[in-house]
Amino acid sequence: MQKDKNRIYIFDTTLRDGEQSPGASMNIEEKLIIAKQLENLGVDIIEAGFPIASEGDFQAVRRIAREIKKCQIAALARANKTDIDRAWQAIKNAAQPRIHTFISSSDIHLKYQLKKTRRQVLEEAITAVTHARSYTDNVEFSAMDATRTDKDYLVDMVSAVIAAGARTVNVPDTVGYALPEEYGSLIAYLFANVKNVADTIISVHCHNDLGVAVANSLAAVTKGARQVECTINGIGERAGNTALEEIVMALNTRKDLFGLHTKIKTEQIFKSSRLLTQVTGIPVQPNKAIVGANAFAHESGIHQDGLIKEKSTYEIMTPQSVGITDTHIVMGKHSGRNAIAQHYKKMGYSLTEDQLNKITAKVKDLADKKKDIYDEDLEAILYEEVYRGEDKYALVYLNVVSGNVAIPSATMEMQVDKEIIRDAGFGNGPVDATFAAIRNITKTNYPLLKYAVNAITGGSDALGEVNVQLKYDGYSVMGRGAHPDVIVASAKAYINALNRLEFLKENVKKVKVE
Ligand code: KIV
Ligand code: ZN
Repeated sequence: MQKDKNRIYIFDTTLRDGEQSPGASMNIEEKLIIAKQLENLGVDIIEAGFPIASEGDFQAVRRIAREIKKCQIAALARANKTDIDRAWQAIKNAAQPRIHTFISSSDIHLKYQLKKTRRQVLEEAITAVTHARSYTDNVEFSAMDATRTDKDYLVDMVSAVIAAGARTVNVPDTVGYALPEEYGSLIAYLFANVKNVADTIISVHCHNDLGVAVANSLAAVTKGARQVECTINGIGERAGNTALEEIVMALNTRKDLFGLHTKIKTEQIFKSSRLLTQVTGIPVQPNKAIVGANAFAHESGIHQDGLIKEKSTYEIMTPQSVGITDTHIVMGKHSGRNAIAQHYKKMGYSLTEDQLNKITAKVKDLADKKKDIYDEDLEAILYEEVYRGEDKYALVYLNVVSGNVAIPSATMEMQVDKEIIRDAGFGNGPVDATFAAIRNITKTNYPLLKYAVNAITGGSDALGEVNVQLKYDGYSVMGRGAHPDVIVASAKAYINALNRLEFLKENVKKVKVE
């Protein structure tokens, strides 16, 4: 029985559905870093992965289950014994484990994908929930493609899994087909027709194919849904999932309308968003609500005038409330080791002696090249120096010749599996030549899907942030690199993408879900 009727549970699936974003695959260390930040953010449930999908997924879920104490840790499993057993093995040591099992319920999926009758699928759902309950009473069931499912069959299925012991029942809009009024009505229909729903948390899981995932989730909570499944920055399969920061801030900002609340520490939102970008290399569009670079930037003179007079004229929430502080100058080349450690601490990172040694050298290095150092620069250094795991490839040395009369060329030295290899490349420009050199050294030639450069902070001496996307066998991987020299940042991004690709090759998902 839910004690606080107005409480919305935040179920974060960044590490599972979010990881299904093209290019978003993360290694175990990276998943753990994200999980720790989700814990700081105050999410109620972390869906840590899909343990049957690969050995890498299993190990990541197990590690997260062992190390995260304040959140429930969910593992995904199809509605069969093997998946559920594997999921349980991964989460059994968690402080609060949850098995999340699912099966499709729409006729389209039953006919073309599962090739099973409604009766068969209903029985499998009941058997799966009963089996999951033999391990834990914290069982969630999802009726995949619920929004294209016959309503009365959905009522039968939801009633049956509740009777079998599911404590949370999720109603996914798997293909992002529903519109807000319709989705809200579906949730209301379930409350009106599922006789044993009273003690169950109804959950919503919306995909953003029509751009209404957040609106759908909001419509659902007005009809009684009390768990929202979402991801940081809205990443996820295809067009992504409900964005955590948007749903939480909508509920917060319009408390007058919804009268609902979450336990999210909103001041941790921006940090979570930046961290995910650093880890996955997937940038956030500038006009993205809440966490985009322009979300709190006022360009119009009339708006600026209003803001000077009274902030509430044009600001419905403050940047501080989501953890965006003024990008102030924090470090210079005279900043000592202690000051650096203190500043990271203020940003919420506690560093070990070893980590601090590595970072201090890099901060001083950067301070030699760049006048002012900002929080974003410090985060970029932290990620590159500390969080990135042992890689197959590393950049040792890069020298590039280019200009309006030279043939662009790059000479390069790289470490490949501990061996130092030197080679050169030519190209149409310095970046092209650098990538050619990397391909020669690594003897790889993956198609380049995307190359993008951004400045992390303002000014011509800013750190350049480069994103590179490579294609591999129907998958894509993102790489990210940051450096004051954009050619070096480009090399780092390409090498990062190659390292991720190596990880992906070993951990290619054997099973894919929407
Ligand atoms: O979109 C979906 O239906 C899913 C389920 C596995 C919950 O991700
Ligand atoms: Zn999904």
